[in-house]
Amino acid sequence: LFKILLVILISYMIGNFSTSYILGKYLKNVDIRTKGSGNAGATNALRVFGKKIALFTFFVDALKGIVAVIVGRMILQDTGGLIAGVFVIVGHNWPVVLKFKGGKGIATTIGAASFINPIPAIIAIIIGIIIIIKTKYVSLGSISAMALVPFISLLVVNPFNLEYFIFLVILSLMAVYRHKTNIKRLLNGEESKLGQKA
Ligand code: G3P
Repeated sequence: LFKILLVILISYMIGNFSTSYILGKYLKNVDIRTKGSGNAGATNALRVFGKKIALFTFFVDALKGIVAVIVGRMILQDTGGLIAGVFVIVGHNWPVVLKFKGGKGIATTIGAASFINPIPAIIAIIIGIIIIIKTKYVSLGSISAMALVPFISLLVVNPFNLEYFIFLVILSLMAVYRHKTNIKRLLNGEESKLGQKA
């Protein structure tokens, strides 16, 4: 039990490192959470600060997912990696250091999930990218890919691994829940499109 708590704590703290917030604050003196969609993530960084900061945000946030899984595995093998994968995203989405107002966890999910098993992750990413290109809604691509990834894993992961499947279902539920304001905006036709500035 001590080891489980340790994995949760470390991965949660890794998730708390909010790249877009830190870059915005120190390079531009702007709290990204007061601009655009108000989200502390790569998509909003693109909207508010431009390509460089967005790209950097994406890579560091994804890297957090990978690092957390590695640390989790060192402490508690594969199960530790899965627990760390969940809690690094929890830390990114609801960071205590930013009064629980963080990002939506997509970049961090991509890092953690593709590191744990690249095949379902890559298929989901490709579907997400196609949707983003076709509709220009990043959120719609994220939501669709995340909603589908547990089902994709059922088709391509053999033998079935219950722990891993539950891991993907949790990631999927967290991501869809975290996009609830985007879902409302999409339904009302008010979601901002890729390339639209804040
Ligand atoms: O990864 C987050 C993306 O799906 C939506 O971001 O800023 O448009 O709410 P945003």
